[in-house]
Amino acid sequence: MIFNVMTLFPESFNDFLSTSIIGRSIKNDIIKVNLYNIRDYSLDKNKRVDDYVYGGGKGMLISVEPIYRCYKDILKDRTIKTIYLTPKGSILNNKRVKELASYNELIILCGHYEGIDERVLDLIEPEEISIGDFVLTGGELASMVLIDSVSRFIDGVLSNSESSEIESFNDDLLEYPQYTRPIEYMGLKVPDVLTSGNHQKIRDWRLQKSIEITKEKRPDLYKKFLTNKNMEV
Ligand code: ADE
Repeated sequence: MIFNVMTLFPESFNDFLSTSIIGRSIKNDIIKVNLYNIRDYSLDKNKRVDDYVYGGGKGMLISVEPIYRCYKDILKDRTIKTIYLTPKGSILNNKRVKELASYNELIILCGHYEGIDERVLDLIEPEEISIGDFVLTGGELASMVLIDSVSRFIDGVLSNSESSEIESFNDDLLEYPQYTRPIEYMGLKVPDVLTSGNHQKIRDWRLQKSIEITKEKRPDLYKKFLTNKNMEV
């Protein structure tokens, strides 16, 4: 899978792209992240990319021209699904993440300053995605969140032991509690069932815990789980 990122701050991706699971997947050619510096596409003699807001208002906007020129350069006459990260977008969830993992290639636009000239959206018509109801200083962190979460659903990114199958949000349930050695720490014991060797009992306990935790911590998700299972709330 190829992620093409349009950003004013490509250097902010350095550690993310060289570390841990994402770093390994890039080395193994399972994913590729191409960083495009929007500033390189400015026609201004000082490489300026931002300007004042028409009609007044605080801050600066990224101009339409460098973004559109960058976008056209990535496309090279192809059609590629494009995402703009913005607090105005629809909120990302596990279902959308999984769907996005089915694309071979994506373009991701990161905003900065007070935003971008609206005509970028008219010309590119990207899907607008937010990672939550809060405002970041730019789209770079949001873009890393998107790349990280989508990559986990791409074959070969996670090893068997890192599998994305048994984890939070599958079946609209949060993940059950997990334990490792020692069997007792400061009086706190690992639940007996987990050391019983009875795999059916362990499966039942884990499902029960997932249901309890979801009901307590995410009642909204629990409602969805019950609806999908055709059960009463
Ligand atoms: N850019 C600034 N805030 C954002 C958010 N919450 N989600 C995605 N992109 C953003």
